[in-house]
Amino acid sequence: MEILERVEEVRGASRAAKARGNKVALVPTMGYLHPGHLELVRRGRELAGFCVVSIFVNPTQFGPSEDLEKYPRDFARDTELCRAAGVAAVFAPPAAEMYPDGFQTYVTVEGLSQPLCGARRPGHFRGVATVVAKLFHAVEPDFALFGEKDYQQLQVVRRMVRDLDMAVRIEGVPTVREADGLALSSRNAYLQGDERQRSLALSRALERAQELVSAGESRPEPVLAAVGRILAEAGVRVDYAELRDPTTLAPVARIAPRAVLALAGFVGKTRLIDNRVLSAPEGAARRAEP
Ligand code: PAF
Repeated sequence: MEILERVEEVRGASRAAKARGNKVALVPTMGYLHPGHLELVRRGRELAGFCVVSIFVNPTQFGPSEDLEKYPRDFARDTELCRAAGVAAVFAPPAAEMYPDGFQTYVTVEGLSQPLCGARRPGHFRGVATVVAKLFHAVEPDFALFGEKDYQQLQVVRRMVRDLDMAVRIEGVPTVREADGLALSSRNAYLQGDERQRSLALSRALERAQELVSAGESRPEPVLAAVGRILAEAGVRVDYAELRDPTTLAPVARIAPRAVLALAGFVGKTRLIDNRVLSAPEGAARRAEP
């Protein structure tokens, strides 16, 4: 497995792999890898003979008061995990390689970046779209894999690729969860004491919401009320709990046929996100029409 730091090196490795007849898959990460990332790698290797993992804690997606310095890092462990998972190359550029002196060009995906995390973390998706576009130019992948846990990020990246005619296929990969439902996230490492247990309220709330919708509820208000109760009982401070159209992320008046329930909440000082696309029973969309 190669460990590369320069854009021209990873581009060269990718082009050489393609010249040998391979497809190239990219798994963009900020490191501190967990089984959710390794699932992206597994899927990437199914799709392509040459799988690149990028490890870069991207400064432009962190706000001034966010946890850039504190973001967990363990490069030695990450590279071992990549090696064991059959990754062909790790691309781990220093910050100056991605953001050279005088850097001033950004990618903004306008509408999709605005609600949910975009409203709470101004500039976050501009940073994500910019670094992902740069990684695509560096690696020139045929496929890029993103977890559905970062649901809004996935929609932002899909839109950017479509709008800017980027020649890469985006693959969303279902969220990997612990046996008790907690969505895997590098930020889970921050949870202390009873916070790990309390954080299960997020996945429980998503589960309960789907139960209500499956039982015929299609109004957002009762579903959001039930979600709010579960989070409050666990002492999760809600940042947002919203029902949105799964593709456009516009607010929905009815949960039929489908709506994404997006949650963000603070458990202690740790901000966790989770989501689930809720599906109404067959025929509910028609019944919900006025
Ligand atoms: O999801 C992440 O880890 C990051 O937002 C990404 C896509 C690697 C961009 O820095």
